[in-house]
Amino acid sequence: MTNIVILTGAGISAESGLGTFRDKNGLWTKYDLNEVATPEGFARNPDLVHDFYNARRANCQNAQPNAAHSALARLQAQHWGRVTIITQNVDDLHERGGATDVIHMHGRLSGALCAACDHRWAAPAAMSPTDLCPACNKPVSRPDIVWFGEMPYHMDEIYKHLSDADLFVAIGTSGNVYPAAGFVADARASGAKTLELNLEPSATAGIFDDAHFGPATIIVPQWVSELVDAS
Ligand code: OAD
Repeated sequence: MTNIVILTGAGISAESGLGTFRDKNGLWTKYDLNEVATPEGFARNPDLVHDFYNARRANCQNAQPNAAHSALARLQAQHWGRVTIITQNVDDLHERGGATDVIHMHGRLSGALCAACDHRWAAPAAMSPTDLCPACNKPVSRPDIVWFGEMPYHMDEIYKHLSDADLFVAIGTSGNVYPAAGFVADARASGAKTLELNLEPSATAGIFDDAHFGPATIIVPQWVSELVDAS
């Protein structure tokens, strides 16, 4: 397995105490995603949107990477081929767990973005609608997060990695949000083997060649050990 491409979702950070979206008690059972995760919601009520992401940024800062994040960092360090991590998560737990080269397709909580001029800078702990853009001075600062209806980041680079993949692994993602949910089919079409590691079968479970189900902190280190020890 020369090129391993890994897609992660909220399930990998669940045991670090960060909520998932669609599980029982998930974030989308408590908040209306149309109000907090769309450009239209931001235009209607920027205070509400900033409050939502400020709370998530604070949770993220108080959370620690778990054994699944560390195991993927170990794989990147010890696998003889290339290991690319693509995450839908906006936290920084992969990086704090030691991973390098993480592609954040849905943006990051640590970033701020000017809705007027697209300038990016490091987000303060608490963002507010009256924050001025350091480049153009307009008060339309938003979190650097990809919302519903917006194009995820780095898609050209991601599709190149998928077409070169020998093994595609999805970890802790429900397979409900495209384009990420389609990556397994894209990787398969390019000849990659595919593996799902999740608490329970995702919406796209039928497409994977193989699967292990259980908590990420157990099944991800197990899978990494098998792969690293076998090489
Ligand atoms: P979801 O909340 O949709 O799915 C989380 C997945 O993690 C589910 O399949 C759970 O079974 C699994 N899971 C839960 N706890 C786990 C654990 N301890 N170990 C392993 N797996 C576990 O989250 P995502 O698929 O990441 O986008 O959601 C995709 C996107 O939808 C997010 O990036 C976000 C959201 O709306 C935006 O906000 C744009």
